Amino acid sequence: MSRDRKLIAELKDNVGQEVTLEGWVYNSRGSGKVQFLILRDGTGLCQCVVEKDKVPDETFEQLRHWGQESSIRVRGVVRADERSVGGYELAVTAAEVIGGASDYPITPKSHGIDFLLKHRHLHLRSQGQWCMGKVRHTIIDAIRRFFNDNGFTLIDTPILTATAGEEEQTLFEVDYFGQPLYLAQTGQLYLESAAAGFGKVYCFGPTFRAEKSKTRRHLTEFWMVEPEVAFIDMDGLLELGENFVSYIVERVLSDNRSELEQLGADISALENIKPPFYRLTYTEAVDILTGEKTKAFMAKQLEEFGGEKDKIEKRIGELEAEQKGSIKQWKRDKNAAELIELRGELEEVSAKIENNPRHAQLAAEFRWGKDLGGSDETIISLMHDRPVFVTHYPKAAKAFYMKTDRSNDKVVENFDLLAPAGFGEIIGGSVREDDYDLLVARIEEQGLKKENYEWYLDLRKYGSVPHGGFGLGVERTVAWITGEKHIRQCIAFPRLMDKVYI
Ligand code: 4AD
Ligand code: MG
Repeated sequence: MSRDRKLIAELKDNVGQEVTLEGWVYNSRGSGKVQFLILRDGTGLCQCVVEKDKVPDETFEQLRHWGQESSIRVRGVVRADERSVGGYELAVTAAEVIGGASDYPITPKSHGIDFLLKHRHLHLRSQGQWCMGKVRHTIIDAIRRFFNDNGFTLIDTPILTATAGEEEQTLFEVDYFGQPLYLAQTGQLYLESAAAGFGKVYCFGPTFRAEKSKTRRHLTEFWMVEPEVAFIDMDGLLELGENFVSYIVERVLSDNRSELEQLGADISALENIKPPFYRLTYTEAVDILTGEKTKAFMAKQLEEFGGEKDKIEKRIGELEAEQKGSIKQWKRDKNAAELIELRGELEEVSAKIENNPRHAQLAAEFRWGKDLGGSDETIISLMHDRPVFVTHYPKAAKAFYMKTDRSNDKVVENFDLLAPAGFGEIIGGSVREDDYDLLVARIEEQGLKKENYEWYLDLRKYGSVPHGGFGLGVERTVAWITGEKHIRQCIAFPRLMDKVYI
């Protein structure tokens, strides 16, 4: 067979021509006379129509014999066809199997999440993971472009570090030739040093937290981008943050609309992501949480969840009844897939109903001084249609490096950015303490060893300047933009507290 290979994404330029495609069989169905193969090559999907009398008998039988995910080479004429997946079809004239596959473990029927995580090495071939990977790719490209185009210099900070950059409880220790070192929780402290050399810098890499939390928002290994800027204040940082996040969203909307649609993302909500974002102080956030508005909001939510639950249960009942009758196999499979999906949704909404009163109570009883919890962030974020900056948290609840607000020494000049619609924190950042004595006091207050931070303190000894930055978590950003509930779906090979599958 001739080797003038085309990619599925190039078919639009080859209508009416005979081309060769190479890829994997995503789906195959047919009668004795014609076989419909959906081919997948990493750039798209294309239906290939194999008519028995247009190809040698042996080829037809081979294609019928081998199953999902066999790799094949097909030749045929490209036809435009709006009804066809991707908009083009191939009328096959020749085909050969490269690597056969039978009994591929992941079938078009739904599987439970545990099964899919165990098979991530294969599940990456699925359309859902493909869309996710494409969106992630754009987000990472947009991150680099934004900083590169805005005068930032990339500084690669170490992964093996000698000191804690965030809470000591979440350090992963590594035996470094007999001396303990830690996997980087952040590149921030090193970046502060680099900012005094370059002015505007950023680092971008994997970071590690031994978080003992099994939530939808936590991984033990995640990717974080951190800009750091000399001569910047809170207002400057918030402006940088909102322009940055808006740029990322704009890029995904322009490059990945089809993937967003396939993933069921809320595109009109994303189109609304433009500066300025909302700004609330922590103190204002506490007033909201403990106020009447939140009480009413939580009650309304509970009512809505109840309605959703009734609807799901009704549909499950209908499907279960259908499954007991005599129905076609394809319908039975379709129902089974829907049932798995619905049971997942039922579990989720039941959890929301169960959690609602506790979360409402936590909010109502929230007292000034504590850090905001996940449920508190969710409530604030649900009440807003655009991202919200929460600023000026209590000093006692926050990291040692955050600058004490000179007009109120109970709070620090920091912020979290909460993504809307209940998603929660995607950015954490602050102005850094630039006064030598105040920083020493904070290090000691938090029980950290001053001698471990001598080099960091030096930055306050030699030409200290106001400076600050933030960190944006890539997986959380991908999850928010795609509407994915759990961030384990937003990285190819997730590391979770309770399990590392492959
Ligand atoms: O708020 P964090 O801990 O801030 C820092 O690390 C600062 N040193 C950043 C800086 O100022 N340069 O983390 C920043 C972001 C969070 O908002 C979140 O998006 C993500 O990193 N993140 C996680 N993502 C997934 N799993 C985890 N366990 C995460 N912990 C933080
Ligand atoms: Mg944070």
